[in-house]
Amino acid sequence: MEPIYFDNAATSWPKPPETLSAMQHYMQDIGGSPGRSGHRLSVAAARIIFAAREKLAELFNIADPLRIALTKNATEALNIAVFGFLKPGDHVLTSGMEHNSVMRPLRAMEKKGVEITVVPCSPQGELDPGDIIKSIRKNTRAIFLTHASNVTGTVMPVAALGRIAREHGLSLCVDAAQTAGCYPIDVQDMNVDMLAFTGHKSLFGPAGTGGLYLREGMETTVEPVCIGGTGSRSEQEEQPDFLPDRYEAGTPNTAGIAGLAAGVQFILGKGLAQIKSREESLVKMFIEGIQTVPSIILYGQTDTVLRTPIVSFNIEGLDPAAVTLELDERFNIMARPGLHCAPSAHKTIGTYPQGTVRFSFSYYNTKDQIIYAVDAVRQISREAKSS
Ligand code: ALA
Repeated sequence: MEPIYFDNAATSWPKPPETLSAMQHYMQDIGGSPGRSGHRLSVAAARIIFAAREKLAELFNIADPLRIALTKNATEALNIAVFGFLKPGDHVLTSGMEHNSVMRPLRAMEKKGVEITVVPCSPQGELDPGDIIKSIRKNTRAIFLTHASNVTGTVMPVAALGRIAREHGLSLCVDAAQTAGCYPIDVQDMNVDMLAFTGHKSLFGPAGTGGLYLREGMETTVEPVCIGGTGSRSEQEEQPDFLPDRYEAGTPNTAGIAGLAAGVQFILGKGLAQIKSREESLVKMFIEGIQTVPSIILYGQTDTVLRTPIVSFNIEGLDPAAVTLELDERFNIMARPGLHCAPSAHKTIGTYPQGTVRFSFSYYNTKDQIIYAVDAVRQISREAKSS
């Protein structure tokens, strides 16, 4: 029996065949270094990179594809945003549902004199924009926020926060690691100043890819964190000040970016609405199924629209790590237990320190897998009760 893969919030699998063939095509037939040499294989590689930017720009409604700096993941993108933008004396707002990729860089900056307010969320992981407004101070400079929790799938009110940020002269940086590719993102409509995303989750690219969108003008206030060769302005010993080169030092991961471009094309081709609707129906079916299992504790809101395809749960009296081990060994179901690198989110929903069992679905999961998984959870629960 094929493994049933419910760990797509960690990394999506399988990938579309197009992702694999685009990577193989680059490795086998092209191989040149983009933007470096000028020969035809180098130019072909540069075209792949530009195509990736264009597709990402289309997906996120970014007017200029060159405003996307490609990075190795969302963490690197968030490091640029946090370390490049914040200065001692700044005050920054974030939420009680963040991943460590936001919290750890912010805590590191706290040691250097940046003040942080973690705005609490409801036990379901919801953030009230009114609480953000109440926390704004004279020195508040930015809001750093996840677009959706990697623990509960709860989507944050980013458009409302974008309006608040504009009205109060703040910059809004959104961590879209869990939404890019499975939830609509429109950086213009949402007033997003910086958008960090990863390529290997819902964008169906490989690990080692991601990016940071910076709104026009942000490059004057965001310092690069990695400096070096860009293939441009080679006569200068200073880093170029224009995008994307300012934030893209060193030879890029062209094979990975080729895969990312194909993954994004897969989404554009199917249509994000179709992907979301399919994933929503899997979540709905799973929630309805396990709600009937005795001893199940479900976390997060029951809404399936304002969420990503993630469901966190526990079986009363059982350790989440033991449950996922049993799911793997007896039922061939791959899930992730524990804190999911998001301790503050687990504190918010009341599951710290043991965490939860997390199922995260993708376009490639099926209704039959959901029926089978509900039954597996039911069996584990029943056996725990009778032992
Ligand atoms: N942040 C990833 C997850 O939620 C790795 O599993």
